[in-house]
Amino acid sequence: MEYKKMVDQAKMLALPKHIGVIMDGNGRWARKHHTTRINGHKRGAEAVREIVEASVEVGLDYLTVYAFSTENWRRSKQEVHGLLKLIINTLMQEIDELAANNIVVRFIGSKKGLSDDYHKRITENCQKSWKNNGLNLNVAMNYGGKQEIIEAVSSIVKDVETGKISSDDIDHDMLSDYLYTKSIPDPDLLIRTSGEFRLSNFLIWQAAYAELWFTETLWPDFNRTEFLQAILDYQKRQRRFGAT
Ligand code: FPP
Repeated sequence: MEYKKMVDQAKMLALPKHIGVIMDGNGRWARKHHTTRINGHKRGAEAVREIVEASVEVGLDYLTVYAFSTENWRRSKQEVHGLLKLIINTLMQEIDELAANNIVVRFIGSKKGLSDDYHKRITENCQKSWKNNGLNLNVAMNYGGKQEIIEAVSSIVKDVETGKISSDDIDHDMLSDYLYTKSIPDPDLLIRTSGEFRLSNFLIWQAAYAELWFTETLWPDFNRTEFLQAILDYQKRQRRFGAT
């Protein structure tokens, strides 16, 4: 089906409110094209742009992309450095256009391991978009689901100790409010590219009831048509949230 028709069709039914994307396969794409891994990531960043555009076209509320995991620090020094640089450079290059398109950009993840200067630059750039009310683009950066839960539990314990909250009040909603994704609805649909079938520590609390969609396509080759295909497939599924 032609892309425009897919958009029209998707708009006729309830859209997922929030889509999470595990952008996998940049390294394999690079090997296939006899280029460096960092060039693979650069092509990956271009694919992000296309998916953000498609999200705006279809009218999505929340899109979260997994840019750098807490496990990615184990990669070579060169690749880690290249990825950190690519992520901040892409943000600085794109923020004005993103903001002009009514997009709200947020980074979610841990501060641990990132320099104060890096963190400050992220916040200063993202702030340019915070007056908007269109697509919410979340970049999971230095993100790990287990680390997120550890940081939440640690803050809850502190707040219990200082009497701000009582341990009797701890429930699902309270814990959710201590996560990086506070006030962001849980993802309805998770997409993972490159033929791997894992969550890899991505939104593990929030994705408890997410629909999962996988493709063999390597991330740099992922495009708006395939993104719409994932949405149309999602719309055919029946969600029961544990009920019969
Ligand atoms: C996984 O592929 C991809 C990453 C670890 C990095 C993804 C980052 C980007 C696409 C840049 C995004 C930038 C912004 C600002 C959102 P891989 O390296 O694990 O691939 P492989 O499994 O084939 O080796």
